[in-house]
Amino acid sequence: MSAATHPFDQITPEWLEGRGSMKWTRFPGTLPGFVAEMDFPLAPPVKKALQTSVDSEQFGYLPQPVANKMKQTTSDYLARTHGWSVEPSQIHPTGDVLQAYEIALRKLVTPGSPVVIPTPAYMPFLTLTTMVDHPVIEVPMVADDSGRPQMDLEAIATHLEGEAEMVVLCNPHNPLGLVYTDAELRALSEVVEKAGAVVFSDEIHAPLVFGTHRHIPYATVSEHAAEHSITAISASKAWNLPGLKCAQLVVTSSRHKELLDPVAFIVSQSAATPGVLATTAAYRDGGAWLDDVREYLSGNFDLLDQFTADHFPGSGYRRPEGTYIVWLDARGIDIQGAESPTEFLREHTGVSLTDGARCGEAGKGHLRLIAATPRPILQEILERIAPYWQRTN
Ligand SMILES: Cc1ncc(COP(=O)(O)O)c(C=O)c1O
Repeated sequence: MSAATHPFDQITPEWLEGRGSMKWTRFPGTLPGFVAEMDFPLAPPVKKALQTSVDSEQFGYLPQPVANKMKQTTSDYLARTHGWSVEPSQIHPTGDVLQAYEIALRKLVTPGSPVVIPTPAYMPFLTLTTMVDHPVIEVPMVADDSGRPQMDLEAIATHLEGEAEMVVLCNPHNPLGLVYTDAELRALSEVVEKAGAVVFSDEIHAPLVFGTHRHIPYATVSEHAAEHSITAISASKAWNLPGLKCAQLVVTSSRHKELLDPVAFIVSQSAATPGVLATTAAYRDGGAWLDDVREYLSGNFDLLDQFTADHFPGSGYRRPEGTYIVWLDARGIDIQGAESPTEFLREHTGVSLTDGARCGEAGKGHLRLIAATPRPILQEILERIAPYWQRTN
C-alpha cells in the first residue's frame, strides 16, 4: 500500500506535542484519541491564505466583501461536491456549528420545548441543549437486521407528536460513523413533516465520506425537508480548522429566513475573519489535499478492520462510512473497578479516549476513538489497549 510511505507516517508524538493542540496537551504524556482533531499538517492553500491574512493584517471585524466571497465559494462548493443548489444569500457565516445550533434553539422553537436527540450523540448536543433550557429526550438508535444502527423513527415520531419540536440529525454521524442513505433521510423527513417539527441538520463531517458512500444533504431529499430544516456545515473538521471559528448556517426555509434575518448580521460577526479566509481557501482549493487525507484515513480504517477483528472481540466495530470516528463496545475490558473504561485505559495504557457515557445513556460502556492520526500512532494506541480486551464470546 503506497500509504505505508506516506509523509504522515513520519509525524511523531513529539512534533504533535510541540504543535500544542488541545488534543496533545490536555493529558500530557498520553496518546490522545478523544477530540475530533486531525494530526496532519495544514492544507497548503489554507496555510497560504492564513499567511496572506497575517501579511495584510486582516484581523478586523468581518468585512462584507470577505463574507460575500465565502458565501459564493461555499455555494459553488456545495453544488460541485453534493449537487446542492444553494444561493449565496442563503448561507450565513457563524462562529461555529455549536453556535449555529444554539441560534436554531433560540429562534426556531418554543423556549423550553424538549429536543429529540438520537443517541449515542456528539456530547455537546446533550450539554448545550440543557444549558439553553431545553430538556433533552434521548432516543437510542436501534440496530436493523444487518446490525446497522438506525434512528428509532417510531419513538422519534411519538416525541415529536408530543411536546418536542426539534430533532437533531447528525450526518455523517458522530460517533457512529454512519452516512445516512436517501431512504433513511426521507423516512425521517416524513415523520418530521407529519409532526410539524424542525430538523437541525449537523453536516460538519460531510466532506469526510469514504468508499461508495455519498453525503446527501438533508435539505435536498424533498421540498418539505428543505422547509422544515436548517443545516450547519463547516470546513473545520475536514480541513482541521476548529480554532479559527468559522462555520456556515444554510437557511433553506422561507419561514426560518424570516426568523433569522433580523439576527443574521450580528451572528455573522461571530465568525473570525481569518477563519472565513481559511474556509474560502479550503472550499475553493483544498480538494486535492482532502482527497489525499481521505485515502490515508481509509488506510487507517483498513488497519482498524484487521486489528479489531484480531484483538477486540465483541467490540461491535463498524468501519466508518463517514467521519474519522470509531465507536467501540468496551464492555469486554475488565476495568477492575475503575470509574470508566476511559479512566482505566488512561491509567493503565497511557491512551486517552472519550467515555461513551458522555454520548448519552446508550453510550455507556463504549469508547470513542478518533482515528485521524498517523498510522504508526494509531497502531501504538491499538496495541496498548489490546492486552486488556478480554471478552472471547
Ligand atoms: C458532529 C459535530 N458537530 C459539531 C462539532 C463542533 O463543531 P464546531 O467547533 O464548529 O462547533 C463537532 C466537533 O467535533 C462535531 O463532531
